[in-house]
Amino acid sequence: MRLAVLASGEGSNLQALIDRVHLPGVAEIVLVVSDKPAARALKRAAEAGIETATFELSEHPDRAARDAAIAARLSAEDVDLVVLAGYMAILSPDFIAAFRGRIINIHPSLLPKFPGLAAIERAVESGESQTGVTVHHVDEGVDSGELIAQESVAIDPDETLEQLTERIHAVEHELLVRVVAGLAAQERSE
Ligand code: GRF
Repeated sequence: MRLAVLASGEGSNLQALIDRVHLPGVAEIVLVVSDKPAARALKRAAEAGIETATFELSEHPDRAARDAAIAARLSAEDVDLVVLAGYMAILSPDFIAAFRGRIINIHPSLLPKFPGLAAIERAVESGESQTGVTVHHVDEGVDSGELIAQESVAIDPDETLEQLTERIHAVEHELLVRVVAGLAAQERSE
């Protein structure tokens, strides 16, 4: 399976995939795309010898044109699965249509609860006793696509937001690796 990972920031989920899924010829991250040239994710990819590409909005007439350029590049790379791992831009409908059913996202809440930004913070502020992590298919909405896998995380009222965030990230890395490895195994058996 040929994977592309789209990431805007830190790239810790990308790192988990590099460390535990990336195996050229089997499940290979062929390209890491970012909308932000300073994203640490790009560095992590380069260090692993994975090709990178940056598509800044300011270099394209609009978002649809930028996303069309990304889609063209992914098609040229013959990508089977697009993984959004902390990609902070909304993808345009044409991009979703071009890769429908082949785009997944990781989100730090038990969707459909707390879609969008600051999901961990909002779960705590709402007095939830648990939150969690979701991997889901991507559709035209914000974190609204069909669920693939979820893992819950209890909220400890005595811990800081940073501590909870760190625990959630660790769960994200496990869940994303499990889902992507599972999809790759499925693809191999087809
Ligand atoms: C993660 O919390 C992910 O769920 C969300 O953005 C964050 C990305 O973290 N979509 P990282 O860049 O993978 O470290």
